[in-house]
Amino acid sequence: MKLTIALLAGDGIGPEVIDQAVKVSNAIATKFNHQIDWKPALTGAAAIDALGDPYPEETHAICLAADAVLFGAIGDPKYDNNPSATVRPEQGLLKMRQQLGLFANVRPTFTFPSLIEKSPLKRERIEGTDLVFLRELTGGIYFGERGRKDQGETAFDTCTYTRAEVQRLAKKGFEMAMSRSKKLCCVDKANVLETSRLWRETVQAMEKEYPEVQVSYEFVDAVAMRLVQWPNEYDVLITENLFGDILTDEASVISGSMGLMPSASIGAKTSLFEPIHGSYPQAAGKDIANPLATVLSAAMMFEDAFGLKEEAALIRKVVNDSLAAGFVTEDLAEGVSPKKTSAVGDWLAEKIREAS
Ligand code: IPM
Ligand code: MN
Repeated sequence: MKLTIALLAGDGIGPEVIDQAVKVSNAIATKFNHQIDWKPALTGAAAIDALGDPYPEETHAICLAADAVLFGAIGDPKYDNNPSATVRPEQGLLKMRQQLGLFANVRPTFTFPSLIEKSPLKRERIEGTDLVFLRELTGGIYFGERGRKDQGETAFDTCTYTRAEVQRLAKKGFEMAMSRSKKLCCVDKANVLETSRLWRETVQAMEKEYPEVQVSYEFVDAVAMRLVQWPNEYDVLITENLFGDILTDEASVISGSMGLMPSASIGAKTSLFEPIHGSYPQAAGKDIANPLATVLSAAMMFEDAFGLKEEAALIRKVVNDSLAAGFVTEDLAEGVSPKKTSAVGDWLAEKIREAS
């Protein structure tokens, strides 16, 4: 297969973790006879520095023309500490999500047998956890009207959803539930928020189209608690943008490290694959960051964007092997000597080449 992949390394540790995903993907391509044409493009602080725009037109054109986008991370402390900055790297991410129509963010949470003890949660609570969040990504309070009034003494952000926005996200949720264990949880705050009542009423109306799916409705505060108490009770969860942002960070604790969790953003046009962790500026350039979330995002890309299941399975296998062998970066190295980011990438690529 001929694959054109836009490569958006971004900021902080983005470039180093992306390099490892490229090594692994190239090894996969050689083994399975695919040709990958990588199209690097600027985004985030790097793009602001070069072009004054965190998601420049050229980058958008490259993403649109590609079969998939592989993304590293965005964010730079020089903007975080400057509240008066008019352009911020994160705006690039939001603009990219909106312009590419990436309305559904798929964030799986699962455990790794060899890492169960790394989680701060008890083994018996988390063993076998396999759930997936579908976070709405192009609406809600992230994109609503905002501003200041009363001479700057009052600030507001507004959350707006249309029925159509809820329907298209919920449709993906029902379809995903059908392909898994047919359980769907709609997470909202319908006891308080009008947008949540629209979510609930819309999902309720769709239930009859999917009679086999068992749907539950839970308030976001309760889910925040139950998620870490009984993660096994959940399968597919759908929720709005901000609730999803918060709950998916929380869910990453179940797996034991944020450095492990991949994600996909899907929608109208090209799909995008990225680790859920951020740019981790403290580690940038040190060759110490965990590349596995990005490598596993590449696995999701092979499977979901290209339908290449065997390729994805081999990536996941070598990742599991590296964890079991203790060939890991410092965030996971307990009682073993930590390996460099690049060394982990080399190891994974080598194991792919050796695989029969
Ligand atoms: C995420 C991030 C982003 C978000 C930030 C960087 C804008 O936290 O992808 O979860 O809030 O969506
Ligand atoms: Mn987040």
